[in-house]
Amino acid sequence: MISLKPYNSFGIEVQAHHVIHLHSLELLEHLSDIRQTKILGGGTNILFTKDIIDPIIKVEMNGLEVLVENEEDVLVRIGAGQNWHATVMWALDHNYGGIENLSLIPGTVGAAPVQNIGAYGVEIKDVLEWIEGFDLESSTFKKLNRAECLMGYRDSIFKNSLKNKFIITHVILRLSKKHQLNLEYGIIKEVLLQKNISYPNIRQISEAVIQIRRSKLPDPNEIGNAGSFFKNVNIPEDQHHELKSRFPQMPAYHLPDGTYKIASGWLIEYCGWKGKRIGNVACYEKQALVIVNCGDATGQEILYFSQQVIDSVFQIFGITLQPEVNIW
Ligand code: EPU
Repeated sequence: MISLKPYNSFGIEVQAHHVIHLHSLELLEHLSDIRQTKILGGGTNILFTKDIIDPIIKVEMNGLEVLVENEEDVLVRIGAGQNWHATVMWALDHNYGGIENLSLIPGTVGAAPVQNIGAYGVEIKDVLEWIEGFDLESSTFKKLNRAECLMGYRDSIFKNSLKNKFIITHVILRLSKKHQLNLEYGIIKEVLLQKNISYPNIRQISEAVIQIRRSKLPDPNEIGNAGSFFKNVNIPEDQHHELKSRFPQMPAYHLPDGTYKIASGWLIEYCGWKGKRIGNVACYEKQALVIVNCGDATGQEILYFSQQVIDSVFQIFGITLQPEVNIW
């Protein structure tokens, strides 16, 4: 048995029967008889609730190469096991733009498209060109372009029909040499203003994002967590109208499709959960979307805590929160 504690940012102690460390494409050809498996990246968006019987494939493919370069942009092919934040720092060192708003997101490059990581107005789908990987059902190598990846808000084909059936080995991104800055998120503008920066470069944006994230989100190396535990929610116009009349202070963003995006963090905070602790589990005091492991919590305790949050938000608002983390 292998302890999975070092492999998950919640710091949950569960055991795995078998972990395969995938660091070369050649290894994949020996996996053809594996049908039932679980694919693990950096373990930063996962909650283990029990021991894992299926073999785990831990993706550790390295490498970072420039495929094509012209005056406008550059195509880079990155091994799925590379650390995401280190990749962002590499891009900044070469003055390649497009992912600076995604600084300091924990996890690996291969996991980033699975949940379509996003922050401060940018999602990885904005720069994704294609994915390379291994289809376990047909035992063949495949390429999927961006459209085929069916990327949505914290969602993709890899969380749905290809879940645990497709191993992402490489991610190909198009990064810019002529930068289009994304400063639409109010807090980024505020932080840059405080620093007296009117025309930021991509490194200054990255530094602002890092400062904001450090001020709001717990460092998984210090306190176990998996970032936002829940997704924000979309509700239809009539439900928004009804809720807004009862809770005028509720923040909501009108989306182009006519629905409203509601900040789940606000709903959770309104219900009194922010900073609240039960046993070894707490709702983080600076960002209510985050659940933290205060000590030796089990996955079941965290799951139970999250269910209590879901129940109380439902009772007050009639909205059912959906977890953002993968629950195994
Ligand atoms: N809010 C509260 N109380 C809270 C938290 C949030 O009232 O405790 C309300 C406030 O109105 C605030 C608004 O929610 O203005 C938005 O808060 P924030 O900017 O912190 O963003 P978020 O919607 O809570 C999302 C992502 C984060 C990402 C930030 C910034 C999801 C599930 N989470 O959080 O992503 O960093 O936006 O773009 O979409 C993650 O996925 O793990 C993650 C941290």
